[in-house]
Amino acid sequence: MGSKTVGIIGGTGWLGRATAQAALDTGFIEPARLIISNRSGGVAFAPNVTLLSDNQQLVGLSDVVVLSVRPEQFRVLEIDARGKTVVSLMAGVSAAAIRATTGAEVVIRAMPNAAVEIRQSFTPWYSAASLPEHDRQWVQQLFECVGAAGEVPDEHCIDYLSALSGTGPAFPALLYTALANQAAAAGIPQDIAWRAAQAVIVGGGQMLASRDPTQMLDSLMAYRGVTAAALQSLTEQNFEAMVGKAVQEGAEVARRGM
Ligand SMILES: NC(=O)c1ccc[n+]([C@@H]2O[C@H](COP(=O)([O-])OP(=O)(O)OC[C@H]3O[C@@H](n4cnc5c(N)ncnc54)[C@H](OP(=O)(O)O)[C@@H]3O)[C@@H](O)[C@H]2O)c1
Repeated sequence: MGSKTVGIIGGTGWLGRATAQAALDTGFIEPARLIISNRSGGVAFAPNVTLLSDNQQLVGLSDVVVLSVRPEQFRVLEIDARGKTVVSLMAGVSAAAIRATTGAEVVIRAMPNAAVEIRQSFTPWYSAASLPEHDRQWVQQLFECVGAAGEVPDEHCIDYLSALSGTGPAFPALLYTALANQAAAAGIPQDIAWRAAQAVIVGGGQMLASRDPTQMLDSLMAYRGVTAAALQSLTEQNFEAMVGKAVQEGAEVARRGM
């Protein structure tokens, strides 16, 4: 797809805009080959990028159409994308539904997350049609503009990963607030409780960027002290199974459709 024109429907939203901006900043897409659309109008966020309100006009001008609207907004979107490649960022909308609604034969589903903002998303993607190698590379490179990316073998993976990759900072945010609230409840001053929890989640997360988490756990458990006691308590309460169930429940929503 080398120098193809890309149209992003919903290109001013959270994911669409961050992806477009990263693709421009890295030089992956030239501004003149990027078209975005939304309903509310305004000005495009970069010079020479075209902003349209007519989605069918965007489709007509694009080789690749990226769907970055919410699932409920997709239900009322009427586009004929026959002959185009459609890349959907939507959770809970199947490739079959996208194909049936848009007429596109080549439908790719990708699941970036809010970390596109800092270009740290891991974006799994799946193509429902067989893609030539250079097109596969193009899709991979598009999502590498916002972090790392990997092709998955089937759509089940995308639905499952919607509740994992797609959640972005949600799980760390939950642990962060739980640690802070519980510390405050145990009598630690509020500001210290939040700063302590932040250091564990953010600082600890940065360390894990270059360390193996299993080895890290093994080394910390080896002290047989405070950390080991806290981790052992979570293990006895079936922490891993709870996490698995939570992700499965999210994935079920993605599979059922939204
Ligand atoms: N945010 C995440 O962390 C995340 C993670 C994984 C997957 N996703 C998926 O990514 C998709 C986009 O999410 P988001 O968070 O970026 O949503 P968002 O910030 O609400 O962006 C949606 C965009 O779509 C535009 N839009 C809505 N209806 C439109 C229409 N008929 N024609 C053209 N533009 C239209 C909106 O602009 P106007 O209101 O001006 O039309 C807005 O710019 C969703 O389907 C979601 O499932 C999001």
